[in-house]
Amino acid sequence: MNDLINEILKLKKEKNAVILAHNYQIDEIQDIADFVGDSLGLSQQAAKTDADLIVFCGVHFMAETASIISPDKKILIPDLEAGCSLASTINADQLREWKLENPDALVVSYVNTTAEVKAESDYCCTSSNAVKVVQAIPKERKILFLPDKFLGQYVIAMTGREMEIWNGACHVHEKIGDVNFDEAQARHPYAEFLIHPECGCSSACMLKSQIYFDCKNTHIFSTEGMIDYVKKSDADEFVVATEIGILHRLKKIKPDAAFYPLSEKSICEYMKMITVDKLYESLRDNKFEVKIPEEIARKASLPIQRMLEIV
Ligand code: 13P
Ligand code: SF4
Repeated sequence: MNDLINEILKLKKEKNAVILAHNYQIDEIQDIADFVGDSLGLSQQAAKTDADLIVFCGVHFMAETASIISPDKKILIPDLEAGCSLASTINADQLREWKLENPDALVVSYVNTTAEVKAESDYCCTSSNAVKVVQAIPKERKILFLPDKFLGQYVIAMTGREMEIWNGACHVHEKIGDVNFDEAQARHPYAEFLIHPECGCSSACMLKSQIYFDCKNTHIFSTEGMIDYVKKSDADEFVVATEIGILHRLKKIKPDAAFYPLSEKSICEYMKMITVDKLYESLRDNKFEVKIPEEIARKASLPIQRMLEIV
């Protein structure tokens, strides 16, 4: 393994490449990466890097976003099959039809969407700035929010805005809603609960709470929001409701604290498709390049730019 890692580092230098990895990547990939973060952080890195080549260790829509932001750079993803169940819940034709039914509405698309869907959108957002993006839209404007229904409900709760929400969900996070939240709180009475807004349980938590989000010791965050919270927190026990890849980074930040996944089964098989072998082959053979047709990239870049401006 060490030889392979050395080869990766050598190739990276030769090709002036940067390796970006999402917080759900396997531990070894996180350790090799130049930057590990959430969707927003990775997009920001893609926008500002002076590398010639970006190897995106994440899922396809993330590499597409990097390609749109940095059209002059070569963007690689080590496995083209690394998709996203949530992004697959809506395509551009479905969005066009929804827009026809609501001609006066503005479209806010979560970054977990294809480039074609982004090209039909007015704003993009990530889980860390969805609330701010919606708040930036004039109150009188109708909003179509897609594709995640749980994130949409969270945004409604936090902004008080009426929005129409697409009925999409991520297969990993939706299932976390099946876990008995009260039982988990009874098992870990002193723990801080960190919940991703894509989770089914985020809605259960909102329902229980009178003043959204002080459902005792419970906080709703993007993956990077969880990292920031743990860095500042004095607590030494955390229950984490998201994909379990994030536990690696959390444990590195606070080695003496205890981290429990709310559900051990929260594994995104798409994120786990990226392996060290595939990363090596990707850098060695320049595969697989992610390139967006010019017209789609041009249209998609405006909502992405808005997403990067509202942080
Ligand atoms: P974050 O932007 O919070 O990392 O979320 C991305 C994602 O795909 C969640 O499933
Ligand atoms: Fe998509 Fe869900 Fe995987 Fe995130 S965890 S990349 S939303 S399938």
